[in-house]
Amino acid sequence: MSEDLWSAVDAYIGDKLITRDAALDGALAANKAAGFPAIDVSPPHGKMFHLFARMIGARRILEIGTLGGYSTIWFARALPPGGVVVTLEAEPRHAEVARQNFERAGLAERIDLRVGPALETLPLIEAEGGAPFDLVFIDADKPNNANYLAWALKLTRTGGLIIGDNVVWRGAVIDTDDADGFGEGARRFFDRLAAEPRLSATAIQTVGTKGWDGFAMALVE
Ligand code: SAH
Ligand code: DHB
Ligand code: MG
Repeated sequence: MSEDLWSAVDAYIGDKLITRDAALDGALAANKAAGFPAIDVSPPHGKMFHLFARMIGARRILEIGTLGGYSTIWFARALPPGGVVVTLEAEPRHAEVARQNFERAGLAERIDLRVGPALETLPLIEAEGGAPFDLVFIDADKPNNANYLAWALKLTRTGGLIIGDNVVWRGAVIDTDDADGFGEGARRFFDRLAAEPRLSATAIQTVGTKGWDGFAMALVE
C-alpha cells in the first residue's frame, strides 16, 4: 500500500470519469509555470464538490482560498445562469494567475475574486449584502479554519452546505505534537463543528494524488 498506488487509482478514476478539459488542465499548467505548489483539490475531489453544488442547486458559492482557481473553476461550472462564486485570496500573485485562468476558462463573469486576507474581506462581503450563500468552501490558512467556520455559519442559508478541506492532514488532526499547527487548527474546527447545534456534520478521510487527508461537510439546519 503506497502513495504511488493511491495516485494510480486517482489517475484511473480521472481517466474513466473526468473528461479532459483545456480550462482545468490549462489552469494546472499555468499554476505549475507560476511555481505554485500543487495543493489544489485533485480532479476527483474537484468534481465531487462540483456535484455537491449541483445537488443542492447552489447559485451563490463562497470560497476561502483561491490559489490558481482550480477548485473555483469546478464550482463556477456548477452554477446556473446568473450564479456566482465569490473567492477570497490573500496573495496578489495567486490572484493574478487565477484571474488569467478564469479568463481562459471563459468563466470570468461568474467569478468575483477578492484579494486580501479573508478575515478582512469577509466583513466587507457581509456589509455589501453578499450573503446568504448556498455553499461555502474553506480552503485557506488552516490555523484559521475555526474562524472561517464561524463566518461560514453567519453567511450560509438554512439548507446550505459548508465544506472544510484538509481536516485530517496525514493524521495530524489527532496528533498533539504536530509541528505546523495544522492539526491544532483541524481540532479547533472539529470542536466548533461539534458544538454548533445548527450544523449536522461529518468528515471523510481520503487518499490519492494529494496523499492522506480528508474533508468535512456540514449542512446548516
Ligand atoms: N482552493 C484551491 C487551493 C487553495 S490553497 C484549490 O483547490 O484549487 C490555499 C490558498 O489560501 C493559497 O493560495 C493561499 O495564498 C491562500 N491563503 C492563505 N492565507 C489566506 C488568508 N488569510 N486569506 C485568504 N487566502 C489565504
Ligand atoms: C496543502 C494542501 C491543501 O489542500 C491546501 O489547501 C493547502 C496546503 C498542502 O498539502 O500543503
Ligand atoms: Mg486544500
